[in-house]
Amino acid sequence: MTLSEIIRERRSIRKYQDKDIPRQVLNELLEDALWAPSGTNRQNWYIYVVKGEKKEKLFKSMLQASQVLKPKLDKLFPEKIVEITMNFFKRLGGAPVLLLVYMPKHTYDLSKDMSLSERYKVEYDRFTNSLSASALIQNILLLAKEKGLGTCWLTAPKHAEDTINEEMGITDMELVSVVTIGYPNEDPPAPRRKGEKIEWIGY
Ligand SMILES: Cc1cc2nc3c(=O)[nH]c(=O)nc-3n(C[C@H](O)[C@H](O)[C@H](O)COP(=O)(O)O)c2cc1C
Repeated sequence: MTLSEIIRERRSIRKYQDKDIPRQVLNELLEDALWAPSGTNRQNWYIYVVKGEKKEKLFKSMLQASQVLKPKLDKLFPEKIVEITMNFFKRLGGAPVLLLVYMPKHTYDLSKDMSLSERYKVEYDRFTNSLSASALIQNILLLAKEKGLGTCWLTAPKHAEDTINEEMGITDMELVSVVTIGYPNEDPPAPRRKGEKIEWIGY
């Protein structure tokens, strides 16, 4: 597959086969993904690769997050989509492995009358670290597609972050996202891409 095909044909996978991913395959994928760019090359990211009993416990914590999210989904999407999403959250499509991506915890004070650039200065480290972690996550998604694996990038678990961190024994880091990974058990259609996102200037 060309890179362009990998990018266009990657889909969010919400149903997985009951099949383990060899550790060597995952390790190779993650080592490659870690070549992502990062702000001032800080590489301020941490990946937890979780399966087994701990993963089952995390599924339960993440189910909590979906309850918080439901009223928001009800407003945005038709009933069928909400039902599919809520079902997915029961056991995250049976994903054999969860990747939890973390960054350092940041604390800062924001005041209402800050200008955007003042706010940016205060939030700079968190902003940069979360963008860097996002580049890492996108690498994971694309490399997984290349290896015949499916993924789904999730921020919904942020709604249950305290419970998840307690479960993980993590106190000094912030959860960026969770990525489900496994061999796909579905081939979903591509959601429509919106046009008019590129402005050409001086052409
Ligand atoms: C930052 C981010 C957060 C996301 N969070 C969730 C999530 O919490 N739950 C979920 O089911 N999908 C989540 N997704 C997946 C999107 O719904 C999906 O990428 C989008 O609908 C486009 O579909 P595609 O990935 O198949 O192209 C997330 C994607 C991104 C990039």
